[in-house]
Amino acid sequence: MVVTLDDTKRSAIAMKLADMKAIQELIIQNEEQILNEITDSEIRDRIRKMIEDDRKNKGVLETVNVQYGIQAEPEKTVTEMVNKVRQLMQGSELSLYEKVFQHELLKHQQVMSGLTIHKAAQKVGADVMMAIGPLNTINFENRAHQEQLKGILEILGVRELTGQDADQGIWGRVQDAMAALSGVVGSAVTQGSDKKDMNVQDVIRLDHNKVNTLFTELLASNDPQKIQEYFGQIYKDLSAHAEAEEEVVYPRVRSFYGTSDTQELYDEQADMKRRLEEIKAIDPSASQFKDKIRQLMDVVGDHIRQEESTMFAAIRNNMTSDESEQLATQFKAAKQKIQEKAAK
Ligand SMILES: [Fe+2]
Ligand SMILES: [Fe+2]
Repeated sequence: MVVTLDDTKRSAIAMKLADMKAIQELIIQNEEQILNEITDSEIRDRIRKMIEDDRKNKGVLETVNVQYGIQAEPEKTVTEMVNKVRQLMQGSELSLYEKVFQHELLKHQQVMSGLTIHKAAQKVGADVMMAIGPLNTINFENRAHQEQLKGILEILGVRELTGQDADQGIWGRVQDAMAALSGVVGSAVTQGSDKKDMNVQDVIRLDHNKVNTLFTELLASNDPQKIQEYFGQIYKDLSAHAEAEEEVVYPRVRSFYGTSDTQELYDEQADMKRRLEEIKAIDPSASQFKDKIRQLMDVVGDHIRQEESTMFAAIRNNMTSDESEQLATQFKAAKQKIQEKAAK
């Protein structure tokens, strides 16, 4: 069979995620620009806090991108829009009010992209829902930022028109609007307020859970096209995960996890890769396809159990949490490079 590893719906979502990342970078630049131009201390504090949230959310978006498993470039129209807005924000044609207004529009766009991806993911599969889960936090924070930007606009607008300060009470209303939002998206708030960096075990476990979900989805489906789509994603995810482990994780743990145990992990992954290639050549509607998938699932299951029990324990006992967080960053970066190479 011809395995088209690029399912169109999945690629379209990858592109939307790339759009979000490009816009997120612009959002941070805009806020730095606005901070330069504002003297009001209350507004400055709020913008500073926003920049902090947005930098963290850029990191979350990068994690989601890698977790999603398909790297894409942003749409051409989005890149053009980003360049245009950047010019406007850095130039002197727009008043401060107009700049904040532009920025609020951008936040709105970001919220809508995030919500759209969330809804689209529900249509494509449980594995996609899982990968993009952290977007909820970003969506919530962007909604909360929108409320604050509206408050800032009122203050700046009244000042530009009358030279006087608006009535008090604007921040009170902003606070109420944000509280109403957090009622709707309660859990996202607690997630957002205490984001801790993931260690390498967390990041590896996310991948393992995702591939297990994909196996379950595939085996439950009788639609050859869906089966091919799920297999395409399993192929991509397992290949990138295994290659990144071999590049950064296994060499790092070998000294304390032991040469023979580490070698076993390499051998199991070689077996896994051989099976992936074998399945890739089989028609998904052939009866042996699912049998081969079940066998692969068993091999992967044993391998995952070994990593999550003994290898994770060895990491916990021999690496500090800082070291494990650094390894997580290296692992994600390696995976991203591999995914980018595969996309070409
Ligand atoms: Fe693994
Ligand atoms: Fe592995």
